[in-house]
Amino acid sequence: MLDYPIQLNTLEFKAVVADLVKNCDEIIETGTFQGNGSTKIFAETGKYVFTMECNAVNHHIASQNLMQYQNVAPFHALSLGREDLIRFLMHEKFDLQTNYDSVYPKTFYMREIGERVLFENGLDLFCNNDRKQLIFLDSAGGVGYAEFLEVMSYKPEYLNNKVLMLDDVQHIKHCRSVAKLLEMGQDVHLSAENRFAWCYLKF
Ligand SMILES: C[S@@+](CC[C@H](N)C(=O)[O-])C[C@H]1O[C@@H](n2cnc3c(N)ncnc32)[C@H](O)[C@@H]1O
Repeated sequence: MLDYPIQLNTLEFKAVVADLVKNCDEIIETGTFQGNGSTKIFAETGKYVFTMECNAVNHHIASQNLMQYQNVAPFHALSLGREDLIRFLMHEKFDLQTNYDSVYPKTFYMREIGERVLFENGLDLFCNNDRKQLIFLDSAGGVGYAEFLEVMSYKPEYLNNKVLMLDDVQHIKHCRSVAKLLEMGQDVHLSAENRFAWCYLKF
């Protein structure tokens, strides 16, 4: 089990988001959950928010919880293509900080992404462009790094307009993403308790 709540809505997160969105026109999120964590903080910035959740029950609850925010569009969607997700999980060694979700992470995460959704490849749809965006990656532990690699595959001139935020940076979800950003010489900032990180991408 994670030793902190699934929802990310701390005062520190709120303050960091308020600062980062000053230079962004919109926010893209993977992993809405029930809409009462990070998504609510994003909603309250007044910026456009496009958020994706692959679990129908969570999506339904999130839609109710976010109803009052006209700037938010919650989608029942997958961040990446399902086959790519399954392929990524199939070859994942799960030898990093992994077993907080299940002792069978491979099947656990495959089940998590198995539902029929409105659309797949949401990251490509929303983020593969030159728009000024805050991109927050917070979906399944097992596929966080796949989402990071997808975003980093976009053109450098696009990425220069993006601020990347990552949750669970001490776990399998994004420990490699942070290591990769540091290896690339990107200016990575870590939250007080090393739970989340952010970075203005620069190329
Ligand atoms: C850690 S929770 C998100 C927490 C949320 N950001 C908050 O602060 O309240 C992860 C969510 O991502 C969803 N999810 C997992 N894989 C996904 C994917 N590939 N695309 C979209 N949603 C995904 C799960 O169903 C789960 O509800």
